Amino acid sequence: MSKLDVILGLQWGDEGKGKVVDLLSTKYPVVARFQGGPNAGHSIIFGDTSFVLHSVPSGIFREGSVNVIGGGVVLDPIIFRKECKDLEKLGVPVRDRIVISKRSHLILPTHCTIDAAQEASKGKGKIGSTLKGIGPTYTDKTSRQGLRVGDVLAPDFKERYAALKAKHIEYLKSFDFQYDPDKNEAEWLDAIEFLREFPIVDSEYLLADCLAKGQTILAEGAQGTLLDVDFGSYPFVTSSTTSCSGACSGLGVAPSAIGRVWGIFKAYCTRVGSGPFPTELFDETGETLRRIGHEYGATTGRPRRTGWLDLPALRYAIMIDGVTDLVMMKADVMDGFDTIKVCTDYIVNGKKTQVVPFDSAEEVTPVYKELPGWKTALSEIKEEKDLPKEFLDYVAYIEKETGVKISILSLGPDRDQTIIR
Ligand code: IMO
Ligand code: MG
Repeated sequence: MSKLDVILGLQWGDEGKGKVVDLLSTKYPVVARFQGGPNAGHSIIFGDTSFVLHSVPSGIFREGSVNVIGGGVVLDPIIFRKECKDLEKLGVPVRDRIVISKRSHLILPTHCTIDAAQEASKGKGKIGSTLKGIGPTYTDKTSRQGLRVGDVLAPDFKERYAALKAKHIEYLKSFDFQYDPDKNEAEWLDAIEFLREFPIVDSEYLLADCLAKGQTILAEGAQGTLLDVDFGSYPFVTSSTTSCSGACSGLGVAPSAIGRVWGIFKAYCTRVGSGPFPTELFDETGETLRRIGHEYGATTGRPRRTGWLDLPALRYAIMIDGVTDLVMMKADVMDGFDTIKVCTDYIVNGKKTQVVPFDSAEEVTPVYKELPGWKTALSEIKEEKDLPKEFLDYVAYIEKETGVKISILSLGPDRDQTIIR
């Protein structure tokens, strides 16, 4: 029996999961997305080409790879078709490399409308959703009225679709919200036909077979642990289990099958959308992180909020996910900084603590430690022995504070700007 390794984000998403999955996929013949949907934007850059994946697992570019869209995922057929067509233009044989779980839930056009209506009704309290229909689709899943990918094979699929759409229209009456009930419907039904051309499978059996045959699986998370519906900064979260246990529930794999857990984090923090962000910067430094780090949403284009690395939050994510290996991204963005700050503790209600508050409205003041910058272009360095001392000290400090080894240092967007330790 081989193992299922998990790779996931430890912050608020956008940690660089796409690059790392693509990189590690040489070692994993099977890559499986376990949750989330097209709210994700996983960027992969090689040479002059860059590609943003939303629903397709990031193993797709490797020859012979099997890419599973797992049951915990919510799938928008329109976005999926567009993504596949774009991949085909690059010569990627998507039909040979993608299989879809029957249990994945379908995002309907009216789910996107509900997402928009709910956000509009929240005014200042809005979540900052990507408006891809994620929350409403998971709501229908949990309230046991959703449509699943496997349902597209049923002869009465169109009637089932119409019945759910009618429920949505009824529900939308409770909002003061203008919309076109038929928006994107024809395109969506057309995209369903496209979906039917893919293998629609019982992926839990497929994955169990892979493990029995000794094939290692990489489970690819979307979003980040701090956006987890249970353990994130509720209600400013996404609607799925982004933490490690989501790999088991989203793929139908037993907890005992989990091997390594790769936890990805940026050397600083970013967040898109609303919600607490204790180390957020509103000054020149924050602007510099955004500009040099190209911190603009890959899915929505929104500027990302930026701030210093938050160790209490990172430790919390590591604890919940059972991280065995850390992957640090984008330290190169801070190459020009004289000093670098790291939040070591929080002050909450006048008391020093490392506990991430339950209440998202809680006032949190970060306590910082200042470390010297390295003032060196990290992205040009290919070997660990050539890295500047200040940077290696920074890495060692984080390892000491988290108790987990940083196994991979990503020092630029390209595949070869990576040091594996
Ligand atoms: P990747 O996989 C960053 C955020 C949204 C919003 C909240 C809820 O690229 O890391 P949703 O549309 O899920 O209902 O929005 O979650 N969010 C992300 N932020 N990266 C993502 O994905 C995200 N997916 C959702 O901005 O605050
Ligand atoms: Mg992203």
